[in-house]
Amino acid sequence: MNQDLILGIETSCDETSASVVAHGRTVLSNTIASQIDLHAEYGGVVPEIASRKHVELILPVIDRALKEAEVNLEDISGIAVTYGPGLVGALLVGVTAAKAIAAALDKPLIKVHHIEGHIAANYIAHPDLKPPFVCLVVSGGHSHIVHVKDYLDFRILGRTRDDAAGEAFDKIARVLGLGYPGGPAVDKQARQGDPKAYRFPRVQFQDGSYDFSFSGLKTAVINQVNQARQKGEALNIPDICASFQQAVIDVLVDHAVAAASALGVKTLCLAGGVASNTLLRETLEKRAKKKGMIALYPPPVLCTDNAAMIAAAGYYSYKAGEFSDFTLNAVPSLAIGQGHQPT
Ligand code: KG4
Ligand code: ZN
Repeated sequence: MNQDLILGIETSCDETSASVVAHGRTVLSNTIASQIDLHAEYGGVVPEIASRKHVELILPVIDRALKEAEVNLEDISGIAVTYGPGLVGALLVGVTAAKAIAAALDKPLIKVHHIEGHIAANYIAHPDLKPPFVCLVVSGGHSHIVHVKDYLDFRILGRTRDDAAGEAFDKIARVLGLGYPGGPAVDKQARQGDPKAYRFPRVQFQDGSYDFSFSGLKTAVINQVNQARQKGEALNIPDICASFQQAVIDVLVDHAVAAASALGVKTLCLAGGVASNTLLRETLEKRAKKKGMIALYPPPVLCTDNAAMIAAAGYYSYKAGEFSDFTLNAVPSLAIGQGHQPT
């Protein structure tokens, strides 16, 4: 029976992952080897270390994903791989492995945009979900509001003009000595804190755009921390985390709900690592409900980087016959939607 099995491969940052997904929606395996512990001592991802570790891990991770899915390479219909955006050396490991498998087996090679992968995690979590919908994609490298008009048709409604939301979480955690990655640590601290203890800035642009800016907020929090330290005052870390997190979430949710509302779209999805944030999920759900919209988000394991989301996204390119040849290369900076045939 043809199950349209897609082998997904993801190596854009610090997770080496491979997955087998049937019909773009059913995950048969999702193997993720995280390098977080390796990078934690440096306070962030070290690109050279990431590439080297991907080289070591990629084949065992693919083998394990096939074994767990109880399939052979011959059963696979196509190989989907993240080709950008991300760290070039890291991306190249996945792209090279995917090309080698596709060439050896004479199977279609499918290139996937990392952020389109994050969006597709929602198809796995919500099997009835179909475009159109609006998706707030918030990760370590991206903060975008995307109108998903169709499976391969994306329009950006808003984006960050400086730091990504996850980047701001990571920076604040570093200043507070909470370790890397910062998002989960800030999230945990914030649960015990008062979100009104400090009033941090929320940027709205005069031109009415749905764009974000988090660098001023980041600086305001760092200044607050430095001032307290200089005066020898005790820092209330839970209060700082809660107030910072509230400021990020207020703008993310305001802009996403306003963008969806203006389009008359009734489904609002979350995606990306920051989408695992407890308060962000609750707030979006409440605000969407008030507007008569439904808010959807994937479970945390599908929010952070994983290959199941890449296989899910790749399935729609596979169905459309969008295959790549062996000149496929890693592209570290890549706009969403770029690389699909015009509709
Ligand atoms: O999507 P992802 O795994 O990698 C990128 O594509 O960037 O996202 C990682 C980001 C990191 O910045 C991390 O701190 C953040 O997601 N993150 C969170 C939470 N869990 C992960 N941010 C806020 N709250 C969380 N619970
Ligand atoms: Zn990601």
